[in-house]
Amino acid sequence: MPAPQPNDPAPSDAPAPGGARRRRVDELAGFSAGRATLPDAPASYPRELERLEIELLLEGIYRHYGFDFRSYAYASLKRRLWKRIEAEGLRTVSGLQERLLHEPEMMERVLLDLSVNVTAMFRDPAFYLAFREKVVPLLRTYPFIRIWHAGCSTGEEVFSMAILLREEGLYDRARIYATDINEVVLHRARMGIFPLEKMQEYTQNYLRAGGRASFSEYYTAMYDGALFDQTLTRNVVFSQHNLVTDGSFSEFNVILCRNVMIYFDRDLQNRVHELFYNSLGTFGVLALGSKESLRFSSHEDAYEALDTREKIYRRVR
Ligand SMILES: C[S@@+](CC[C@H](N)C(=O)[O-])C[C@H]1O[C@@H](n2cnc3c(N)ncnc32)[C@H](O)[C@@H]1O
Repeated sequence: MPAPQPNDPAPSDAPAPGGARRRRVDELAGFSAGRATLPDAPASYPRELERLEIELLLEGIYRHYGFDFRSYAYASLKRRLWKRIEAEGLRTVSGLQERLLHEPEMMERVLLDLSVNVTAMFRDPAFYLAFREKVVPLLRTYPFIRIWHAGCSTGEEVFSMAILLREEGLYDRARIYATDINEVVLHRARMGIFPLEKMQEYTQNYLRAGGRASFSEYYTAMYDGALFDQTLTRNVVFSQHNLVTDGSFSEFNVILCRNVMIYFDRDLQNRVHELFYNSLGTFGVLALGSKESLRFSSHEDAYEALDTREKIYRRVR
């Protein structure tokens, strides 16, 4: 499939300080101009027909392009599809299906719509603090540490972990695999440029997460972007991986999959938990998002909680 285009609105073409170079940095980093509220189907749209059309559309996407969204949580998925239907000036789900199946570029746009990419550096600082206090001591006992960030989006989480490991003196023995279904966000992650306007918020997060240095040491300001220290990704491999259709690719000491399964239905959550269970070594650590849990995993009993509140678990069987 040809390289997808970023979904975020293109930066304004109006002359700006810094001119073309500044626009280029913004464009490459794909900075968002904010997320619109998601629409729903018109009130008169027949609900049963809508459901049928969406099922057919998802089946079509799967069979034609190989992306399997059939077990994503329906309510959120439906609103995202309607956002695209409206943006394209279409009236029905079937109208979108026709465009999708005949125009690969439309699939690229829908892929970006369906893979919600919201993220932040040191998102949920208490999680990173708990990781420092409860997981880092375990990692110190390993000669080599393998970490998988599944659903890493634009990489803010990966850079946060790299900073934490460096400050704990563990970075050099770590190898981080950072994956996502979406090649566009991975491209942004590899660049390591994040919006400069976010740095104040991220500095606060970093300090609350137990950061030990001055956060500004980790980046250089470039127009509207903060270019992060490229040595932070020396031990990082960014790669496309689909949690729904791709298998395990190694054995890990830590798997982080935060704020991804929230978009999956119960059955798919269980399938992904199966994948993680099979990809974790014994005593391996699994970290989930604040609204996620092991509840829909048939391996729930194989884990003990290292931190219940921060959703950090350890595989004990
Ligand atoms: C809301 S972001 C979470 C990013 C980051 N983990 C965090 O907590 O800030 C969810 C990410 O999951 C990715 N994703 C969705 N479905 C996926 C799948 N089937 N396989 C891999 N990644 C997926 C999306 O592309 C998106 O980047």
